[in-house]
Amino acid sequence: MADNPGITFERLPHPAPTDAAARVAALANPGFGSVFSDHMVTIDWEDGKGWHDATVRPYGPLSLDPATAVLHYAQEVFEGLKAYKQADGGLAMFRPDANAARFNASARRLAMPEIPEEVFIESCRLLVDTDRDWYPTVEGGSLYLRPFMIASEPFLGVRPAKKYKYLVIASPAGNYFKSNATTVSIWVCREHSRAALGGTGAAKCGGNYAASLVPQAEAIEHGHDQVVFLDAEEHKWVEELGGMNLFFVFADGRIVTPPLTGTILPGITRNSLLTLARDEGLDVHEERYSLQQWQADAASGKLVEAFACGTAAVVTPVGTLADHDGEIVIGSGGPGQLTQKFRDRLVGIQRGTIEDKHGWVMKLGF
Ligand code: PLP
Ligand code: COI
Repeated sequence: MADNPGITFERLPHPAPTDAAARVAALANPGFGSVFSDHMVTIDWEDGKGWHDATVRPYGPLSLDPATAVLHYAQEVFEGLKAYKQADGGLAMFRPDANAARFNASARRLAMPEIPEEVFIESCRLLVDTDRDWYPTVEGGSLYLRPFMIASEPFLGVRPAKKYKYLVIASPAGNYFKSNATTVSIWVCREHSRAALGGTGAAKCGGNYAASLVPQAEAIEHGHDQVVFLDAEEHKWVEELGGMNLFFVFADGRIVTPPLTGTILPGITRNSLLTLARDEGLDVHEERYSLQQWQADAASGKLVEAFACGTAAVVTPVGTLADHDGEIVIGSGGPGQLTQKFRDRLVGIQRGTIEDKHGWVMKLGF
C-alpha cells in the first residue's frame, strides 16, 4: 500500500506472472507497443464520489458494457512517458509532472475530470516499481508508460459521462520505427488535416489519432514512414507529424519549430529541446514555416537538417520529404550534426549521464 493525499493504492500481485524465459525473450527485442508487463493501474471516478478504488492489479482485459460512452463518442485522453535506466542502475521517469499537466489539459478539453498530479505520478511510479523486471535489455530501450482515461458510463446520450476509468499500462520499448532506420522519410498530406483551430489538436485524445490513420496509411503506401500535416485553413503551414513534433535547422544557424497555435500537440520533447537550445544561446524560434519554403530551402541547401521529436521517437532525423511531385533529400539525407547533438544531450539527461540542470529527471529510488 502506498499513501497519497486522499488516495491509497491497493496492490494485487499477479497470481501467475509471465514465466521468466518468455519475459527475457520479449525484452531482448520488444519493438514498440506490442509487449506489455504483468500489471496495470486502475482508478475509478464517479460524479459525487471523485477518484476511488486505486489498484495495481494483474494486466488483463476490461469488461465493458456495449453502451459504454467511450465506445461511441470517443471521450478518451492519454499520455506517453518513459522510465529510463540510469547510469547508477536505478530507474527514473522524465518530466512526469509535465505529462500530468498535459493529461489534465487534455481532460479539460474533453470535458473529463482532472486527476491530482501527485496521483498521476504515483500511479506511474508504482507500476514501474511493480514491473521493474520488465525493463528491456535491447540497446536504447526504455519502459514506456501509457496512462489513459475513458468515459466508462453506459449511456448513449451525448453529454460528459458521469463515470470514468483511469488506467496505466507499461510496455517495454525499443525503436519506434519498425525499419530500425536512422532517419524517417516523410510524406506530405494535402487532402486531410489533423486538426483545425478550435478543435482538439492540442489535446492528446484518441480521436486525433483515429483521424490520422488514413493519411498515415497513404504515406506507407507511397513508401514513406510518416505523414506531415499542414494547417487546416490554408493548407500551407507545416504543423507536425502524426505522433511527433518537427524542428528545422538552417545553414545560418537558425533553428525553427512550428508555434503552439492550438492545433498541434505541445510536445514535452519539443519543450525540452527548446529549453536546451536556449540554454546554449542558439538562435531558436517558434514560428510558422510553409511547406513551399521547406521544399525550396531543402533544394537550395539553406535548410541543412530537419528532425522529428517525441517520447516514442526521441529525436529522429528526417531524411526525405516527398509528395506527388517528387522527393527531396534534406541536408545529407542522414543524421545532421545538430540533430545528433540534441539527441545525445537529451538521451544523456534522460539516462543520467549528463547533468540534469532543470530538475527533469525523477529518480524512483529503485
Ligand atoms: N505530436 C503528437 C501528435 C504526438 O502524439 C506526440 C507524442 O506524444 C508528440 C507530438 C510529441 O510529444 P512528446 O514529446 O510529449 O512525446
Ligand atoms: C508518444 O511519443 O508517446 C506518442 O504518443 C506517439 C505515438 C506512439 C502516439
